[in-house]
Amino acid sequence: MSASVIFEPLQFRNLTVKNRVFRSSLAGRFNNYDGTGTQIHINWDLKFARGGVGAIISSNAPVHPRGLIVPNYAHIDRDETVPFWRELVQRVHEHDCKYIVQLAFSGRQRDLGGIQFEKGWSSTDKQEPIHGLECERMTIPQIKDLVQRFAQGARRAREAGADGVEIHGCNGYLITQFLSAAINDRKDEYGGSLENRARFALETVRAIRAEVGRDFHLQFKISAVDYGNDLFFWWSKGTTLEESIQVCKWLEEEGVDAFHVSSGNSFPHPRNPAGDFPLDDVVRGYDTMISSGSHTFRNYLIFRFWPLNAIFRWLWRRPSRDRIEGINLRDCRAVKDAVSVPVLCTGGFQTASVVAAAIERGDCDGVTIGRPLIANNDLVLLWQSGADRPPRPCTYSNKCLINQIENPLGCYEQSRFDSHEEMIEQVLSVYDPPQFRSP
Ligand SMILES: Cc1cc2nc3c(=O)[nH]c(=O)nc-3n(C[C@H](O)[C@H](O)[C@H](O)COP(=O)(O)O)c2cc1C
Ligand code: SF4
Repeated sequence: MSASVIFEPLQFRNLTVKNRVFRSSLAGRFNNYDGTGTQIHINWDLKFARGGVGAIISSNAPVHPRGLIVPNYAHIDRDETVPFWRELVQRVHEHDCKYIVQLAFSGRQRDLGGIQFEKGWSSTDKQEPIHGLECERMTIPQIKDLVQRFAQGARRAREAGADGVEIHGCNGYLITQFLSAAINDRKDEYGGSLENRARFALETVRAIRAEVGRDFHLQFKISAVDYGNDLFFWWSKGTTLEESIQVCKWLEEEGVDAFHVSSGNSFPHPRNPAGDFPLDDVVRGYDTMISSGSHTFRNYLIFRFWPLNAIFRWLWRRPSRDRIEGINLRDCRAVKDAVSVPVLCTGGFQTASVVAAAIERGDCDGVTIGRPLIANNDLVLLWQSGADRPPRPCTYSNKCLINQIENPLGCYEQSRFDSHEEMIEQVLSVYDPPQFRSP
């Protein structure tokens, strides 16, 4: 299998990307508490632009301060944020790499809500089930206002020179909370039938199109299947593939230019990012969240003590035991067969022949990569030089994910490094160059 198909340009309606590899969103706490951006965030994204990806999808950028998942992510919720995004986009463009801003709102799924708003907004007023995070059911005026905030976020991204936006419509965040019958218990026009549950997403796309017109790239990241009972069989399954396919068809009619296929109705979820549940790192970091929700102290005890922690880890790893690389390809193929716009797939990709085969088969038009690019920032250049897989691949340990709640985002899998010092040097390299430099 030749890898050359990976290096063919991908043509969207309003955007051409030089190859088929996108850096997926990778949020780290690199910014200021108020959501204003920093040089450190720019350093982070430049690592991947230099490494040869065709486009970068930003970390989730809240369109409203109430929608943050964890403080210190870069927001796009007010016009004063535009100069930061403009500088970031310009620096990324210098590497012949496109930049897509991910517009996001957390809803009830917030790891650390921050000091501004005690409770998240959601389609429901039921607690988030994993950590027991409290939320408020959104009123109709709040829904209408938030739809416009997404549109304003898209306008700011365009003003900043970005090449497009992605709506964060997956993984248990607000749009999933509307789409999923396992979560959405509303009795009004935003709940009940699939059409009603999809209304918020469709109105958001319509509002963005009204604000930015038809000539600005707009893609939608969707969990094709909720797999809501993957961890505990007694939980509700949630959105099915058939339902998502219908939603994608409606979204395409409203003007979505591409889909990005993920899975799961929570974040994290056993299938996203698929792999291990690193107990030692979880115990070290979860204390940060103990005061966040009503189940967090109970969870901490489960994660800490044997045999409950071993049982939890076993349950977590079960859905991805047979396959991590390309775990979403089957669902992605079903979406691709139903729509006429390009479809991207996320989930575990780090082998050139696997990616090339997926594109050749028509399972997807391109792939997005997260953790394997944290592990090997230059993965695309490695493939270009003829390697099928990096010498020290990502182990899917998920230690990066767990650490980023209280530590800088980077690879924390020590087995990939010659020493602890080497690993820490890699993590801290994101602070170079620093925000302020001597003249
Ligand atoms: C540390 C970390 C942060 C992430 N942040 C986001 C995010 O802000 N928005 C999003 O849609 N997905 C986010 N993801 C999910 C990734 O974009 C990606 O879809 C997922 O990790 C599966 O791809 P991978 O196996 O290549 O990592 C994050 C994943 C990790 C590991
Ligand atoms: S810590 Fe490193 S090896 Fe583990 S999942 Fe993250 S990037 Fe991959």
